[in-house]
Amino acid sequence: MKIDFANLQHQYQLYKKDIDANIQKVLNNSNYIMGEEVQQLEHQLADFTKATHTITCSSGTDALLLAMMALDIQPGDEIITTVFSFIATAETIALMQATPVFVDIEESTFNIDPSKIEAAKTKKTKAIMPVSLYGQPADMAEINAIATKHNLKVIIDGAQSFGTTYKNKSEVHLSDITTTSFFPSKPLGCYGDGGAVFTNNDEYAEKIKMLRVHGQNKRYHHKYIGLGARLDTIQAAVLLAKLPHYKKEMQARQQVADTYTAALPNKVKTPLIKANRSSVWAQYTIRVSHRKQVQESLKNVGIPTAVHYPMPLHLQECFKYLQLKLGSFPVAEQLSNEVLSLPMNAFLTVEEESFITQKLKVMLN
Ligand SMILES: Cc1ncc(COP(=O)(O)O)c(C=O)c1O
Repeated sequence: MKIDFANLQHQYQLYKKDIDANIQKVLNNSNYIMGEEVQQLEHQLADFTKATHTITCSSGTDALLLAMMALDIQPGDEIITTVFSFIATAETIALMQATPVFVDIEESTFNIDPSKIEAAKTKKTKAIMPVSLYGQPADMAEINAIATKHNLKVIIDGAQSFGTTYKNKSEVHLSDITTTSFFPSKPLGCYGDGGAVFTNNDEYAEKIKMLRVHGQNKRYHHKYIGLGARLDTIQAAVLLAKLPHYKKEMQARQQVADTYTAALPNKVKTPLIKANRSSVWAQYTIRVSHRKQVQESLKNVGIPTAVHYPMPLHLQECFKYLQLKLGSFPVAEQLSNEVLSLPMNAFLTVEEESFITQKLKVMLN
């Protein structure tokens, strides 16, 4: 058996007719930048999330930059964030010439530990940036309570979690600004780079719309220093064809996760979704000791896996200047040695899942 990790080709074949037709329409119109598909997509994403404002952009990374620029983050400001994420979370903070102030994670959810946030706060702290890692929101009630108490802004890095909910509300309502990514392998992905910013704040929305087009408020009149950060029309066309299937795909991913959790052997630590929230299962990430051995054995029988992430952010070479040593964030350090993401996509068959769980059972016996 040869199993596909994200199975994007299968998904394309399923929706090919609509995807091809949508792309062809853009090619026929030659409206490659801010064509009508971009606005259509923004309306449909707003419908999906009920966000007051949805602004698409060129990537999840640029979405984070746009969010921080809209909040007027200045050089020297500090932003509290998780130490266990993809590099873009902290890299964009550093690109703003602000300082990422890392906080360790909860062992059960892999997300920022809210009980450690207040200790990280200083006079320079301007915002908290939780990440909804693997698709599950962090403890947003606790995080927002801390933010309100200390007058801090909250940006959710929702790159992995488009569509997720917290207390039955879309996570875009839990922050000042929430971002997402449409990178191809994300739960909702396009065929290149893409992202979006969501906010219920009119002022931020207005500013973000200008910032994504070089800070322009009128053609060739630039109110802010901005970015060239628009979503390509062709990518919007791809997403327009995929979005109608997304709710069904979210359910299918949940089904895959439930099956894994029920069938995996006890020696495997399976992911926990806390009460009152959901995950869109960007990854189904287990914890195993002897990860390298397990990964190699799975590979040998045709089961691809991935490690998200092998090194916490404070140990990355680019953050050496922060002078944070091994031992500073013990939970993230331990988990980075144990996490292993199993194949996860809406099209994984019962036979494939059963093959994966059986192989893991034999290996870990
Ligand atoms: C947590 C997180 N933040 C930000 C990003 C950046 O998104 P993009 O690749 O669309 O720039 C990613 C993408 O992997 C991510 O996982």
